[in-house]
Amino acid sequence: MKAIFQDNYGSPDDVLRLREIDTPLIGDDDVLVRVRAASVHADIWHVVTGQPYVLRLMGGGFLRPKNPVPGTDMAGTVEAIGGNVTRFRSGDEVFGETVKANQWTNGGAFAEYVSVHQEALEFKPGNISFEQAAAVPTSGLIVLNNLQGQRRIRPGHRVLINGAGGGVGSMAVQIAKACGALVTGVDSTAKLEMVRSLGADRVIDYTKEDFTRLGERYDLIFDIASSLSLAESRRALAPTGFYVLIGHDHYGKAGRRVLGSLPRFFLLAAISPFVRQLPKMFFEPLGRRDTMPVLKEMLEAGKLTPVVDRTFPLSKVPEAIRYLQEGTARGKIVIVR
Ligand SMILES: NC(=O)c1ccc[n+]([C@@H]2O[C@H](COP(=O)([O-])OP(=O)(O)OC[C@H]3O[C@@H](n4cnc5c(N)ncnc54)[C@H](OP(=O)(O)O)[C@@H]3O)[C@@H](O)[C@H]2O)c1
Repeated sequence: MKAIFQDNYGSPDDVLRLREIDTPLIGDDDVLVRVRAASVHADIWHVVTGQPYVLRLMGGGFLRPKNPVPGTDMAGTVEAIGGNVTRFRSGDEVFGETVKANQWTNGGAFAEYVSVHQEALEFKPGNISFEQAAAVPTSGLIVLNNLQGQRRIRPGHRVLINGAGGGVGSMAVQIAKACGALVTGVDSTAKLEMVRSLGADRVIDYTKEDFTRLGERYDLIFDIASSLSLAESRRALAPTGFYVLIGHDHYGKAGRRVLGSLPRFFLLAAISPFVRQLPKMFFEPLGRRDTMPVLKEMLEAGKLTPVVDRTFPLSKVPEAIRYLQEGTARGKIVIVR
């Protein structure tokens, strides 16, 4: 089969090549999917470049990636099933995430075929395209995990999404609206119209206004852009509100090459018992088996509509990653077959 192959860490143009390789073998609990679409997101950039360096010690592969084929979020049709798989049949249309645990690893989705654990797959809703379905799994998992499966939002809550026009933010706006929140989306000028069209009640241009100084208070600040200090976010938080950090390294521009955002997470976790507005860290993260059915239901109900900015063919993955890095995409970038 044809696949994008990475035999080293480095810039996408230097290390990614389209190659002919063996079709993956499947285990008893796996499904072989013929990939129709696979999305590009920030963690793809991390694993291709090998930055922050700590990801190489976290299962990615020390000198070179353990799995040489990047890509984690995909949609396609079932080609074959393992001996223990009873839920899916050949020809079913599915979507899901190909990595089992750590998202800082390659998942093999930028290829004609990929092997996926059955628990990470769901039936693709009929009302969305393969391209849209491929845009959902990881961003949706991140949003639902950080909202603790929506439990952090009550109807009427004032929720601010910082970085609302990006891959995770565009899902967060819609999921928060679906929970009945009053949503404020913060992003750069060119993305605000899209953020509003996703349902945000109010939008703020971070290049013109500092929302922490506008005198508004929020029940939840979801800091996807990771641009706020705790002190800044507390200026705009209600006394019982929460600050939730995602940890964005801005494709290397944040400069945290060795450890990325991990030190910030550890610091916030360490002080969280003493700061009321920081979530406590004893929540067990949701897995794909928990989040995929919720996302599927929201897609079917029209509560979540993935926005695809642009598609690229498999041979143009380096160009697609460069486009992601530029930061101008409004919605997701998707690789199509
Ligand atoms: N999307 C995924 O599926 C995925 C998967 C794995 C991990 N993640 C993690 O989730 C985080 C966010 O990913 P993402 O895909 O949402 O990234 P993204 O698509 O790059 O979105 C980030 C958004 O934040 C905006 N932004 C930049 N600086 C800002 C500021 N100071 N204030 C407010 N907004 C600002 C950016 O707009 P401008 O560039 O126009 O300023 C952009 O729209 C990353 O840490 C990533 O590692 C995401």
